[in-house]
Amino acid sequence: MWKTKFTQLLNIDYPIIQGAMAYISDGKLAAAMSHAGCAGVIASGGFSPDEVRNEIRRFKDIAGPNKVFGVNLMLQNRNKDDIAQIACDEKVPFVTIGAGNPVPWLEPLHAHGIKCVTVVPNAKLARRVQDAGADALVIEGMEAGGHDGKITLMALMENVLPDIEIPVVAAGGIVDGRGIAAALVMGASGVQMGTRFLLAEECRLHPNAKQAIIQAADTDSTVTGFSKNNSVRGLKNTFTEKYLQAEYQGASREDLETLSRGTNKIAAVDGDVENGFVLAGMSLTHLRQIEPVSDIIAQITKETEEVLQKATSKI
Ligand SMILES: Cc1cc2nc3c(=O)[nH]c(=O)nc-3n(C[C@H](O)[C@H](O)[C@H](O)COP(=O)(O)O)c2cc1C
Repeated sequence: MWKTKFTQLLNIDYPIIQGAMAYISDGKLAAAMSHAGCAGVIASGGFSPDEVRNEIRRFKDIAGPNKVFGVNLMLQNRNKDDIAQIACDEKVPFVTIGAGNPVPWLEPLHAHGIKCVTVVPNAKLARRVQDAGADALVIEGMEAGGHDGKITLMALMENVLPDIEIPVVAAGGIVDGRGIAAALVMGASGVQMGTRFLLAEECRLHPNAKQAIIQAADTDSTVTGFSKNNSVRGLKNTFTEKYLQAEYQGASREDLETLSRGTNKIAAVDGDVENGFVLAGMSLTHLRQIEPVSDIIAQITKETEEVLQKATSKI
């Protein structure tokens, strides 16, 4: 059990969040995170509002009624009002808010006792959401799987951390205890990880996609949509080759959207890892086995403690 600003905010043992993953992160995965003393986030991307409500109830059935978990509110999604209403009705402990301006959402969610953890891509927005009353921030570097900004996590930590008082959670490319220790030493109060938990036993990602991640190394991820400010990171394959060729031959945003429509689901749910897009971050080389969440957390927390203990002997 560790004590950081973020563990105190959420009342959890370790400041590790399993980030929302569209089509993938459900009540079962979040319950496994809770059981391991951490917090999981139920995705809303790829799930209907009814499915989100069912996953919240599934979490409560497995983990117990008063355990901590989050729901992801994606502000570019059409169903955002429904998801926010469900979060309020179900008394969700916290939401992670991304892909838009979170400021107008803070007051109504706070009024229902929901903590607001906002995902921000730069220092300016970090200060703005802090001033508006966000409870914590996630800074997500371009190493991350899924939708990305254009700044690395190291640069975000350098730019954001000195100015922010509320807990800051570092995300993007962290898969082990060395990464967690580095983020904590930099001044973050916690980490959010996605890709590492794709290989959790409790994760519903299609087995073909899990195998594709196991076989991948550092150079095997790529970003689509960078030139259109719509970056998405995942594994290189037939789909990304086709998309990137079209993107760099000047295809319109609409044509690119048509090309990519449905590709997350094709990989994550149907298991076609060539024509679908397997979203994953850059830190892939050492992800080699499928393990229960409890083993992953035991391993990475032990490693973090060892790395931090040895840290002062480095100079
Ligand atoms: C398969 C996948 C799907 C994701 N979907 C979402 C999402 O729906 N909403 C969101 O806010 N972040 C999403 N993310 C980002 C994660 O929540 C997390 O911030 C990111 O995975 C951290 O970087 P890492 O993958 O290097 O650990 C997704 C990431 C992955 C790998």
